[in-house]
Amino acid sequence: MDATLPVDLFGGGVVAAPMAGGPSRPELAAAVGAAGGLGFLAGGYKAPEALAAQLDAMDGGRPFGVNLFVPSPAEADREAVLAFRERLLPEAAAVGADVPEPRWTDDDGYPAKLDLLLGRVPAAVSFTFALPARSAVTALRAAGAFTLQTVTGPDEALAAAELGVDALVVQHPDAGGHSGSFLGLPAFAGTLPELVAAVRAALSSAGAQLPVVAAGGIGTPEAAAAARDAGAAAVQLGTAFLRTPEAGTNAVYRAALADQDFARTALTRSFSGKWARSLENGFMRRFADAPAAYPVLHYLTAPMKAASVRAGSPERTSLWAGTGWRGAHDERAADVVARFAR
Ligand SMILES: Cc1cc2nc3c(=O)[nH]c(=O)nc-3n(C[C@H](O)[C@H](O)[C@H](O)COP(=O)(O)O)c2cc1C
Repeated sequence: MDATLPVDLFGGGVVAAPMAGGPSRPELAAAVGAAGGLGFLAGGYKAPEALAAQLDAMDGGRPFGVNLFVPSPAEADREAVLAFRERLLPEAAAVGADVPEPRWTDDDGYPAKLDLLLGRVPAAVSFTFALPARSAVTALRAAGAFTLQTVTGPDEALAAAELGVDALVVQHPDAGGHSGSFLGLPAFAGTLPELVAAVRAALSSAGAQLPVVAAGGIGTPEAAAAARDAGAAAVQLGTAFLRTPEAGTNAVYRAALADQDFARTALTRSFSGKWARSLENGFMRRFADAPAAYPVLHYLTAPMKAASVRAGSPERTSLWAGTGWRGAHDERAADVVARFAR
């Protein structure tokens, strides 16, 4: 039998995914919590002080989670990055932006943010992009946090279970935003329910009892029900919350999500150097061959992306979206929680 999720935290089984880069702000996490879901703050790309300010804003409210990007060893081919940078210069110039010099090492301030969370312990902490140190998981759990690890396949699930986290977020390649895969490409060939079943089978044959939260491409209550039928104890939705008034999604991004002219999403490394799913725009098509160099490319493209948004154009900015994006509506976060609750 699987372990279950604590009802006081996971309520009706809907988790609002942490969404770094603006969408996951305290208003969204609070509204999701008040509606009986589990809201998340996104620690990624934020200075520790900025994350602390968001924790302050959550004081006194419902329980919530915080997500951290775990740094992994840099994998940048310097020549490929410099060639990418040369090609980026005219793209950035087209929206009046510069391209900075490459920043070859960056840990996203992870150690300081981990310390912050050990001092101001949220109800849940989730990790993505790599496995944290065992000592971090042990310390957070001892301090009372419920810990989750994002995995994209059975091998990653077994590695995370071995580390001692409380639950897994099983992320399908249909997910919006970055893949949390740490042992290879986000390459699972089947559906999300099939991925959930494959992970559960692997856990069960290893004798591990861990609840699974299913994520990736869930755009309808039927898709959520299918993930639950496959054994997921909850669903984690990102894209479905992007158009809610409580999310910090910028206006250009919001408009693109509603724009019928965007016909598909695709996986791309062009914005950050790591595979992520976005509505397909011109920049992605022109840079389909971008090298694996996360987060080096993220910092190279950041001024261009910001300038594209300021100019009101969706063509040179990331538009993270899962394959179920047509199911994201302009509705209150509480209504999304209600639609997808068990
Ligand atoms: C805009 C955006 C930002 C995201 N940022 C994060 C993040 O900071 N940390 C994380 O673990 N996952 C992040 N994700 C991935 C989500 O956790 C989740 O896997 C995904 O949203 C599920 O797929 P869906 O968008 O189709 O619902 C992000 C997703 C989106 C759409």
